[in-house]
Amino acid sequence: MLVVMAPSLTTPQDVADALDGVGYLPDRGVATAAFLALRMSRPLFLEGDPGVGKTALAQALAQVTEATLVRLQCYEGIDASQALYDWDFPRQVLHLRAAGDTPDTAALEASLYDRRFLVARPILQALEQTPSVLLIDEIDRADDEFEAFLLEVLADNAVTIPELGTIRAETPPLVVLTSNRTREVHDALKRRCLYHWVEHPSVEREVEIVRRHVPDVAEQLAREVAAAVSALRTADLLKPPGIAEAIDWARALHVLGARRLDSDGAADTLGAAVKYHEDELRVRRDVLPDLLAKLA
Ligand SMILES: Nc1ncnc2c1ncn2[C@@H]1O[C@H](COP(=O)(O)OP(=O)(O)OP(=O)(O)O)[C@@H](O)[C@H]1O
Ligand SMILES: [Mg+2]
Repeated sequence: MLVVMAPSLTTPQDVADALDGVGYLPDRGVATAAFLALRMSRPLFLEGDPGVGKTALAQALAQVTEATLVRLQCYEGIDASQALYDWDFPRQVLHLRAAGDTPDTAALEASLYDRRFLVARPILQALEQTPSVLLIDEIDRADDEFEAFLLEVLADNAVTIPELGTIRAETPPLVVLTSNRTREVHDALKRRCLYHWVEHPSVEREVEIVRRHVPDVAEQLAREVAAAVSALRTADLLKPPGIAEAIDWARALHVLGARRLDSDGAADTLGAAVKYHEDELRVRRDVLPDLLAKLA
């Protein structure tokens, strides 16, 4: 029988409410995708621009399902031994030394592959510590071989360690993969997953997100910051601001005592929203004057 996580979340709206309860404000598309991933026990593949809340969604899902969050951060060159398990070589050597000269070399060799010398990496941890949410973050940074390896693991929800046997998850982890789309992930991997493109939030939603993260912020300031970052996202910057930048910008202005976004305040704190010098120059020269005129 298929064991599903969080059986009490019976509609997408339940998932939306639960996520809201832990401070993550999803739109309808995100809540539905998360609901289906839970109900259908399928991995959820989240793609979207930096800072739209992909990683935070996996964290929030772990909270609402009361599951352990296990994060596998991908990077160039990552391989199975960093994702699955490894043997603790220094401890094995110590064990060998402590054993001294023993005639039974076969037994000694077998004892080297005892569970206590196994180092569980994130995927094995997620299979053992169920219920769990396994966040495979930024899969686009890993290479093709690693994707092929993930395909196998996702298909089985089990790992076979030749020296120890097969370890199978009691409840399959909820797997969330994220990508910033720095390269296309193969269709074979996507096919196993429910795919969802995470959009930037609407201005109204971003106002709410900012207010959740900076509770005492003036409402007008939150509105103007949300409107400003939304405009900056269409300004063709090297690095358009994500939600984290919106939160930071509002917080910086709030800390300085601002209740509105005015030209001095915006100029003084622009570094919270824009992270490249070229972008900063362009925004100051071409974008801010118009933007602030509209807000005034
Ligand atoms: N819907 C949301 N509700 C509340 N907070 C959010 C939401 N979306 C994003 N955030 C907040 O915005 C910040 C950035 O989100 P996150 O790091 O998850 O983005 P990301 O898509 O993973 O970015 P990257 O691609 O750069 O890793 C976090 O502080 C997160 O808490
Ligand atoms: Mg992320």
